[in-house]
Amino acid sequence: MQTPMNPWSSQPSEDIEKLFSMFGIEPIGSIDGILPTNPSFIGRGVVVGHRDYRVIAEAIRDKKPFHILTGFMPSGHPHLGHLMVMKEVVWHVQQGGTGYITVADREAHAVRDIPWRKCDEYGKEYLQCLYALGYHGKTYFQSRNKRLLDLAFEAATRVNFSELQAIYGFSDETALAHAESVITQVADILYPQIESMPAPTVVPVGIDQDPHIRLTRGVAHKLRMFTVEEREGYISVRSKDAPPEALEEVYRRYPGSKKYEAHVDIPGGRCVDVSAEVRRIEISHGGFGFFTPSSTYHRFIPGLQGGKMSSSVPESTITFTEPDEVVRKKVMAALTGGRATLAEQKEQGGEPDRCPLFLLNLFHMVEDDSELAEIRRRCLGGELLCGQCKKETAERVLAFVRDFREKMEASAHMVKVE
Ligand code: TRP
Ligand code: SF4
Repeated sequence: MQTPMNPWSSQPSEDIEKLFSMFGIEPIGSIDGILPTNPSFIGRGVVVGHRDYRVIAEAIRDKKPFHILTGFMPSGHPHLGHLMVMKEVVWHVQQGGTGYITVADREAHAVRDIPWRKCDEYGKEYLQCLYALGYHGKTYFQSRNKRLLDLAFEAATRVNFSELQAIYGFSDETALAHAESVITQVADILYPQIESMPAPTVVPVGIDQDPHIRLTRGVAHKLRMFTVEEREGYISVRSKDAPPEALEEVYRRYPGSKKYEAHVDIPGGRCVDVSAEVRRIEISHGGFGFFTPSSTYHRFIPGLQGGKMSSSVPESTITFTEPDEVVRKKVMAALTGGRATLAEQKEQGGEPDRCPLFLLNLFHMVEDDSELAEIRRRCLGGELLCGQCKKETAERVLAFVRDFREKMEASAHMVKVE
């Protein structure tokens, strides 16, 4: 999966690798060869890690149902930094996934103190961006979704304060609403499986969201009635919380199986088949039958001035309402991977892989792989100098933003606040 277009492939960031192995996240290369075609966010090294993405890749390959869900906190205007995860969602929907977008207004209100009216205003803009990128699927605002909030309550029966403290460092001073917004996100991630049907679900996020993913995976498991495990020569179906009639039904479904007080041992058979059958029985007895959700982790696009891209630092990013002149100025003022002097740069070449402008091109502005490779090659070889490169990038960004504004305009009518 390491193409020449992946600027990080030769020196994968040690920090990321360490983080991953600490938390049990797998490098994305471990699903190599399953997807019929690699999307550019994988080929270009933007998506770097995953949990259980294999089941999603297989669902795509085998044309089986799956869900894709992510969320946006409406704490400011959407900007360039949000586009990558939106594109990931759109791509998965194009591969056959059922799309879900949650506007995390409860979180914005609880954690960032954003007034509800602002949550609506920003939330609508996020949805407009998604539609502008070609999104098809469901959307909702957390605070308006009764079924979601009921699911959050159900999920809350499986989480206690010490777990929140361990995962998030919550203290005695943490507002209860903050805890509520956490459990609402857990419900978000499980929601597609109650709104539509239980199926593998992938949640594309940045690494900062992994605590939520871990918590949710735990809750999904705890809300199951059964666990199914492969043992030597048989499959063990264990009741954690199943009504006796449900366990009895598992037993009757498999002639030759043995029933004990809280488990049934099934000789032979395939674990996936038994899992599917047990899930069906669980659901028919009022259980959730959740699949443990999967996730992918992407790198963040750097801010135009280096550092983080964030709406709280206006120079670091570009929103879609800014006038052309401001857009051009921001690109022209961006940090580059250029050398101290022209002579040095001609001789040694620039450092595209550390250059915010190159990464802006890589993330969003140059779709064609060979065109991007050519920019990188000319930069490395000292042929392309930053002044010229900035001008060319500014033109691309302007063309992109103009087109994107039009598309947002054209999709405004699709946005629903519900
Ligand atoms: N907490 C996320 C953020 O800060 C937003 C969010 C809410 C989310 N619910 C989600 C992300 C579900 C992924 C999945 O941006
Ligand atoms: Fe970055 Fe372009 Fe300068 Fe290379 S030439 S360092 S890609 S701005």
